[in-house]
Amino acid sequence: MIDLKYIQSDIEPSALSEVLDEAQRCNQQLEDGTGLGADCLGWLRLPELTTQVELSQIAALAHSLQAQSDTVVLVGIGGSYLGARAVIEALGPSLPVCHGQRSVELLYAGHNLCDAYHAELLELLDHRSYSLVVVSKSGATLETAIAFRLLKQHLERQVGRHEAAMRMVVVTDAQQGPLRQLAAAKGYRTLPIAGNIGGRYSVLSPVGLLPIAVAGHDIAALMEGARRAQEHTSASTPAEQNPACLYAAARNALYRNGKRVELLATFSPKLQMLGEWWRQLFAESEGKGGRGILPMCASYTTDLHSIGQYVQQGERMLFETFVSMGSAGSHLPVPSDSRDFDNINYLSNRQMSDINRMAMRGTIAAHQQGQVPCITIDLPERSAPQLGYLLYTMERACAISGYMLGVNPFDQPGVEDYKRNMQELLGSPCVL
Ligand code: PA5
Repeated sequence: MIDLKYIQSDIEPSALSEVLDEAQRCNQQLEDGTGLGADCLGWLRLPELTTQVELSQIAALAHSLQAQSDTVVLVGIGGSYLGARAVIEALGPSLPVCHGQRSVELLYAGHNLCDAYHAELLELLDHRSYSLVVVSKSGATLETAIAFRLLKQHLERQVGRHEAAMRMVVVTDAQQGPLRQLAAAKGYRTLPIAGNIGGRYSVLSPVGLLPIAVAGHDIAALMEGARRAQEHTSASTPAEQNPACLYAAARNALYRNGKRVELLATFSPKLQMLGEWWRQLFAESEGKGGRGILPMCASYTTDLHSIGQYVQQGERMLFETFVSMGSAGSHLPVPSDSRDFDNINYLSNRQMSDINRMAMRGTIAAHQQGQVPCITIDLPERSAPQLGYLLYTMERACAISGYMLGVNPFDQPGVEDYKRNMQELLGSPCVL
């Protein structure tokens, strides 16, 4: 899955073996629950502990939402929506015109404070039969709360209070918070988020699983892939064979060599949200105490025509991680043209996916020559099990990597600062 051959000229074998030992120690700490933030490790054994009964309950809830509506709006921000959207976009159709492939359309709200976006959404929903899934662990995030209030009232006006209540599912803290209280008072259906699972580590909990199931994807297969990853990344696997340790070790070795920015490069717009999920996971987990690699993502080949120049020849402070996934089976050969007006007949009958692969190989070679170390992560197919494997491996690598940096990968004290300022400016009676 992970290949470090393109960083060999940047990291001495002895330095790599040193960081691998450290990664192994950190992975053991994680498993023993002796590291920082040990009360936030609920995600670590989720693949193993989530039962078939729980998955069936989530799938049943998803089916009922599908049956009730042609559209489901997922309301949430950050860790409460990025993972679900990453999987849905990676596995689903890219364009709304792909009729027949999706029974329900997923739309998103509460991930920004843009009035125009939400006004357009409400206008669109005037003509849809829709349900709401609101996800917020705290139940107190302003973006989510405002969007939920707008949508809840819109839905109540459209179908009446009783029917609206039947069309809402609240995913929130198992015990507490305003959303938990509201759901209890109004009789909304709910799914719990365990107290020891933080937002950005929650994609394999009901937070991610419900919307992914609503979009029609196989959550049992996703969890099966994650379960295999849990096995392969456990502390009993030697670090050299453990994809989470290898990734954490490589990026930390590069950081120690002065590389401050990691660019996650994918070669399909379908994986763009996966990049955004990954970026939040690493940025919030590592960026603290004046430390941390700045995670950025790029969607190639599109972005080769925007930031490619900088990557090739700009400041030498970055490394890249290329994530590729086999196609989901589409075949699209380049047609030949009798006049060859564009001089690309040499590509006639060549699959577009094959040309994209060559673009990736060419990019890695060029960037390596430009002194950009490249890590590659290759998943043979675009499928639910492969994605489950990747998501879990990344979460584990991120936690190990945070421990290697000496930070608590499970808190986000810096995120509170903007919230406090915003609440003060808005005259909130309960400033954080
Ligand atoms: O990773 C995190 O903890 C954050 O990104 C949260 O998911 C995000 O701030 C949303 O929080 P909440 O789920 O409480 O609305």
